[in-house]
Amino acid sequence: MATTTSPYLPAQILWPATPRGVHQARHSLERQLAEWDLADLAPTAGLVLTELMTNAAQHATAPGRRTGVSILPTPGGVRIEVHDSVNVEEGAPTPTDAPTTAERGRGLTLVDALTTHQWGVTDRDGPGKIVWALCTHPAA
Ligand SMILES: Nc1ncnc2c1ncn2[C@@H]1O[C@H](COP(=O)(O)OP(=O)(O)O)[C@@H](O)[C@H]1O
Ligand SMILES: [Mg+2]
Repeated sequence: MATTTSPYLPAQILWPATPRGVHQARHSLERQLAEWDLADLAPTAGLVLTELMTNAAQHATAPGRRTGVSILPTPGGVRIEVHDSVNVEEGAPTPTDAPTTAERGRGLTLVDALTTHQWGVTDRDGPGKIVWALCTHPAA
């Protein structure tokens, strides 16, 4: 996959694959959104980032690996990319129809709703994959 770079920030920041790492990444996202005058997207984008990073940590991170996150400006919003270390063929994000009594299994359903279906998975060079999501303002 082609690597996109922006003049504003490094292409990718590596965060610890822990709840604290997710917390730090969310704050970094909030700062970036404020810089781009997109602070109103922070609640939605923060939730999306949290779910994707938690999935990377719980389902797709080799021991000792960090989670790579890229935040890229797009028309009307941002593209969030979360890099993990498991290839698509070995494990892909799959929204599930969690029963009401289930304690897990709603993260991707939430991401799908918050992004109005604008999310997906791409292979990347080398091991692992990228799960991406777009957080944008609703079309006027
Ligand atoms: N980055 C990922 N790599 C591999 N599998 C994933 C990834 N993200 C999610 N999955 C799969 O998709 C399922 C649904 O994810 P999600 O809706 O977030 O629920 P939960 O994480 O609570 O199981 C997970 O149980 C897992 O099997
Ligand atoms: Mg999850």
